[in-house]
Amino acid sequence: MSYDQSRGLTHRGTMTKTALSGIQTSGDLHLGNYLGSINNWLNLQNEYNCYFFLANLHSITVDRSAEELKKSTLSSAATYLAAGLDPKKSTIFLQSSVKEHCQLAWMLNCITPIGWLKRMTQFKDKAGKKQDNANTGLFTYPILMAADILLYNADIVPVGEDQKQHLELTRDIAGALNRKFNKKILNVPEPLIQGAATRVMSLRDGTKKMSKSDASDASRINLTDSSDIIIQKLKKAKTDNLVDITYDPKNRPEVSNLINIFCALSMQAQNIVVEHYQTKGFFIFKNDLAELIISKLEPINIEYKKIIQDHKYIEDTLSNGANKARIIAQKTCKIVEENFGFIQN
Ligand code: TRP
Repeated sequence: MSYDQSRGLTHRGTMTKTALSGIQTSGDLHLGNYLGSINNWLNLQNEYNCYFFLANLHSITVDRSAEELKKSTLSSAATYLAAGLDPKKSTIFLQSSVKEHCQLAWMLNCITPIGWLKRMTQFKDKAGKKQDNANTGLFTYPILMAADILLYNADIVPVGEDQKQHLELTRDIAGALNRKFNKKILNVPEPLIQGAATRVMSLRDGTKKMSKSDASDASRINLTDSSDIIIQKLKKAKTDNLVDITYDPKNRPEVSNLINIFCALSMQAQNIVVEHYQTKGFFIFKNDLAELIISKLEPINIEYKKIIQDHKYIEDTLSNGANKARIIAQKTCKIVEENFGFIQN
């Protein structure tokens, strides 16, 4: 089987493009991950050859206990499956189980100028003012991400708006490697930034991203929150003292965030939602939004509770996924190694 055929063959026997994405495992997944990522991946499963992984190597760029990492890995995997990612259609695996991610990342390290990494806004945000004290993994994080993508010759990478710069870097790195060896070794991927609420913001501060690491649990809707908690969190969600409901992300970030969430979940256009709720008041709007969120998350929640009990099922699924992923990863890695001049034995 030739190199190209091996990656594009589906059950239908036709050439299919490859989609790939991942989420860092750190704490429970939340509505932002769902709307910005998983929900957008579901439809891709029928059209693309899909790889969805849990970026647990990226997770250790932040100091956390082994217990915490294991727990969040299982919980994220259970959420992937509960939300409808289907191991029969997609390759679902742990990044750390396919060693080629690190192997390719190292080789890419050696062709990436430091200046390219210094431009990454996420590094600057995460490292803060004391960049020299940040761990090196945080700095080279985008190179590992490039390896994740380039190993599988991904054509499209569905990600949230905040990952756009990392995707640009990935494209630059693929180009640099191809130029170095003067042939097309790695596929240059396209980002796929989807949906109205690709950037879901905190319920407490509309200028901050909804995040697993926010100290306030009220700032996010976890995919594992019960209906009562979802209702409470929405009641407490910050708005402002204007009476009408209007979309104005600059001046009314919290209100606009709630509208975005409503649009994404109901798949309605923003003007339709605003027109409907403009004069109805926040009580009704928040109530309806809570119901909408619950109607989407409840089935996922029920499924999650079943799956999370069954560690063997989760681990077997991830192990099967890793076995499939490894075949392609090893192939790509070997080609790059040969080009660098590593003797294969
Ligand atoms: N950096 C991504 C995030 O924080 C996670 C990630 C790691 C990723 N590797 C990737 C996303 C490869 C897409 C493709 O969300």
